[in-house]
Amino acid sequence: MLLLPVLLSLRLPTVGAAQQKCPGYAARNIRQTTNGLAADLHLAGTACNIYGTDLPSLTLTVEYQSATRLHVVIQDQNRTVYQVPESVLPRPNATDPATAATTQLQFNYTTNPFSFAVSRPNGEVLFNTSGSPMVFESQYLRLRTSLPNHPNLYGLGEHSDHFRLNTSNYTRTFWSRDAYGIPQGTNLYGNHPVYVDHRGKNGTHGILFLNSNGMDIKINDTAGQYLEYNTLGGVFDFYFLAGPSPIEVSQQISEVVGKPAMMAYWTFGFHQCRYGYRDVYQVAEVVYNYSQANIPLETMWTDIDYMDARKVFTLDPQRFPLHKMRELVSYLHAHQQHYIVMVDPAVAYQNYSAFNNGKNLDIFMKDADGSIFQGVVWPGVTAFPDWFHPDTQKYWNDEFGSFFNPDTGLDISALWIDMNEAANFCNYPCSDPSGYAAENGFPPKPPPVRNGPAVTLEGFPADFQPPTNAKRQASPRASMLGLPGRKLINPPYTIRNAAGGLSNKTLGTDLVHYNGLVEYDTHNLYGTMMSSASRQALLHRRPGERPLVITRSTFLGAGAHVGHWTGDNVASWEQYEISMTDMLNFASIFQVPMVGSDVCGFSQNTTETLCARWMMLGAFQSFYRNHNELGNIGQEAYRWPMVAEASRRAIDIRYRTLDYLYTAFYTQTQTGKPLMNPMLYIYPEDPKTFSIDAQYFYGDSLLVSPVIEENKTAVDIYLPDDIFYDWNAGFAPVRGNASLVTLSDVNFTTIPLHVRGGSIMPLRIESASTTTELRKKGFHILIAPGLDGKANGSLYLDDGLMIKQPQTSLINFAFNNGTFTMSGHYGYPANVSIERISLCNIGSAPQRVTITGQPNSTFIYDKDTRVVAVDTMISLTQNATVQLPAS
Ligand SMILES: *[C@@H]1O[C@H](CO)[C@@H](O)[C@H](O)[C@H]1NC(C)=O
Ligand SMILES: *[C@@H]1O[C@H](CO)[C@@H](O)[C@H](O)[C@H]1NC(C)=O
Ligand SMILES: *[C@@H]1O[C@H](CO)[C@@H](O)[C@H](O)[C@H]1NC(C)=O
Ligand SMILES: *[C@@H]1O[C@H](CO)[C@@H](O)[C@H](O)[C@H]1NC(C)=O
Ligand SMILES: *[C@@H]1O[C@H](CO)[C@@H](O)[C@H](O)[C@H]1NC(C)=O
Ligand SMILES: *[C@@H]1O[C@H](CO)[C@@H](O)[C@H](O)[C@H]1NC(C)=O
Ligand SMILES: *[C@@H]1O[C@H](CO)[C@@H](O)[C@H](O)[C@H]1NC(C)=O
Ligand SMILES: *[C@@H]1O[C@H](CO)[C@@H](O)[C@H](O)[C@H]1NC(C)=O
Ligand SMILES: *[C@@H]1O[C@H](CO)[C@@H](O)[C@H](O)[C@H]1NC(C)=O
Repeated sequence: MLLLPVLLSLRLPTVGAAQQKCPGYAARNIRQTTNGLAADLHLAGTACNIYGTDLPSLTLTVEYQSATRLHVVIQDQNRTVYQVPESVLPRPNATDPATAATTQLQFNYTTNPFSFAVSRPNGEVLFNTSGSPMVFESQYLRLRTSLPNHPNLYGLGEHSDHFRLNTSNYTRTFWSRDAYGIPQGTNLYGNHPVYVDHRGKNGTHGILFLNSNGMDIKINDTAGQYLEYNTLGGVFDFYFLAGPSPIEVSQQISEVVGKPAMMAYWTFGFHQCRYGYRDVYQVAEVVYNYSQANIPLETMWTDIDYMDARKVFTLDPQRFPLHKMRELVSYLHAHQQHYIVMVDPAVAYQNYSAFNNGKNLDIFMKDADGSIFQGVVWPGVTAFPDWFHPDTQKYWNDEFGSFFNPDTGLDISALWIDMNEAANFCNYPCSDPSGYAAENGFPPKPPPVRNGPAVTLEGFPADFQPPTNAKRQASPRASMLGLPGRKLINPPYTIRNAAGGLSNKTLGTDLVHYNGLVEYDTHNLYGTMMSSASRQALLHRRPGERPLVITRSTFLGAGAHVGHWTGDNVASWEQYEISMTDMLNFASIFQVPMVGSDVCGFSQNTTETLCARWMMLGAFQSFYRNHNELGNIGQEAYRWPMVAEASRRAIDIRYRTLDYLYTAFYTQTQTGKPLMNPMLYIYPEDPKTFSIDAQYFYGDSLLVSPVIEENKTAVDIYLPDDIFYDWNAGFAPVRGNASLVTLSDVNFTTIPLHVRGGSIMPLRIESASTTTELRKKGFHILIAPGLDGKANGSLYLDDGLMIKQPQTSLINFAFNNGTFTMSGHYGYPANVSIERISLCNIGSAPQRVTITGQPNSTFIYDKDTRVVAVDTMISLTQNATVQLPAS
């Protein structure tokens, strides 16, 4: 392709003094390559050495990987500088390289000082570094792009700030941190340095920075609007993604970070957890109480309480004895329910098998003197697995294989992993870990032992009945290994880590991994490496089944292995609201579609109304779990009649729409099309959608608009210029006109939901107490015609469990001018049929409804809601056409 050097004559904004001093680079030896160009970059003047040593020689490579993806890498000539290992994040290949005629992204540069710009064929500049010289030092990289005024930027998480990012005096810090309370404006658990730049009618693009070093990304508008990368190491490795729609940007991100892993059907059921269940009897009581309250409970969870003095891979022999735990799990399985527990990476530094096995395999992180690095986590002094060690996977598989052995151990269905930033309670340098643990009370004291549940649990094994005379007991070096000679603990440039120094509350950044990489470079990968190792360990234990692993810390690409919960949030109305955008960041931008917040809030006491509202909002997260912290009031859904009723109603809707969610999830695993959609993804040309935080689409058809203020039973919601159907009013049509609509009388057991015109939603005809029972229910097809009278939807069916699916169905539904058609691929033997079709927005009662082969179909027309509901029996194994009234 033709790639001529084009000299840019761009206006240089005022540059700050510190930046002026740096000479930048000059490009030489510019040459075309098969799919792009390459050049050598040489320091263009005297080194400024502001935060390290300027590298004298770099190389630039530009590859037009596809019409919509441009890859730009600026790296050291020697390839000594650390880069994110391919073993952690495999890079996409240029499967369909672009030509000058097909590329949607053009790369232009100036040679001296070197700068580059990426623009669309129509001249719209997306990225332009000419305003400030590039800095590439041993411990500091800086690159600034100018942006149009008031840009609409999204992503750059994990964060709990507004969905549309602040663009004035704003810093986003990337450094995994145990971020209790998920405070705004700080670095949290995960790191996804990718942003979406939405320019309305001018299109949307994405920019992914593949770098795992600690960094501050600064967005500011005082000297012209810019975004600036300030990174403690690594190389400049950018993927430019052309969109041009927001959904296409998300799909293009998935081509770089990997398509998300498919999850089992049951994992979308409702989960209950808390920190502070005192013993196995209390866990059983919760299961029992849910069933008594008639609230569907799919999965029961246990936090670190189950461990013996908080040691991973152990059970508290008195409060959570193995034989009782096995009975509990058998009971759950017999009732089509599941059990999940937490595992932390930190292994107690004590004489017990999990530690001894790790020590024998020599897989723990080491100090410089070769001794095992010691930190402090829940059990006291701990060691930390080195996920780069070649034997760590075997270690993890073996520990899982024995502790979670279905025949002799704890037969979990899935896994929850925590504290993997990695969290360490002890601040750097943590010179006296055992003293620190003793002073700060690790492990915490467990509650008194009981020998039976507080109440009689009918239906539970006899062992779960209170004993007649319960006796109380007393309490008990390769390539890209990183430049040598760096200051790994206190680098010259300081990022805004809310924990202070880089090594504070985590592993020392000077620790060296087995393969020679240092923690300074790889800290942000620890959680994601534990995630993939844990996924492998679950697969090893139960080959072929889709594993569910829910992790706290993530990096680019995490969704290909695991799901995420948004960590230790607060039971507050603010965090209830932010839970929506937290989820959207992960599901819609970072390609981690299995995600949700702790429903009702983790830290602090929840309230009845907050918990009622959150149980309903949480029903529209992909991952739906109520979780609570030790010491807070109980918040299981049955605790208040109002919350119980809100939960029953929300779970009823969630379960009836579960196949719609499952289909959307499956679609994302195949195409990257997000299962959750911020409003601007569906209405990208409507500027009023760009800043919306508190409404979103569950799938692409169901608009969720919760009440967000305490004690209010009203909410102002935005409806774009389109037609919607009110779920809570029998699908009566509502014409949106691009303005706010006040919904009043939204009581505490109702969440406003609107079906977007143009959608066909496959619903189950009724809900069930478990997802296993739900799969036996027939379907109800809801047709919600758009303003043009047309509608579309799809349904994916498989066995719900296995990775490899020999027989699946992917059915497309279409409605046009009164004709409903089903077409597609029918492999899965669904033993259920479509039992009802509802068509919205019909002006008057139809004369008849004709279904081929079913001449006398009965139907009901409701003149208030304008909905026609037809009873039918249509097989899900072949194409079908149904004549309905025209909309
Ligand atoms: C790169 O390699 C050259 C040649 O081996 C050597 O002179 C130079 O010091 C190296 N530079 C760095 C930064 O390692
Ligand atoms: C890219 O191609 C290389 C070489 O053929 C291969 O090893 C690698 O797995 C491919 N990467 C992906 C993500 O497919
Ligand atoms: C970039 O280069 C192309 C030719 O390669 C040119 O048509 C275009 O105008 C340039 N864009 C900018 C912003 O200079
Ligand atoms: C934004 O610019 C102002 C004025 O130069 C400066 O005081 C502030 O620190 C900058 N903010 C960030 C996040 O860089
Ligand atoms: C920029 O933000 C910082 C930190 O939040 C604050 O201390 C400072 O006053 C702000 N500066 C301006 C110019 O707004
Ligand atoms: C879209 O492009 C036009 C013409 O270049 C420009 O005036 C307008 O500001 C752009 N809008 C956005 C949101 O960038
Ligand atoms: C580590 O964190 C503690 C507590 O937040 C703080 O007092 C200390 O200054 C930090 N240490 C470093 C080196 O930043
Ligand atoms: C939570 O409620 C309990 C019981 O009323 C009370 O003891 C505790 O202090 C409350 N916690 C907070 C953080 O307010
Ligand atoms: C909501 O009502 C409760 C109970 O009356 C009251 O304590 C609380 O302050 C109210 N909250 C707001 C934000 O008005």
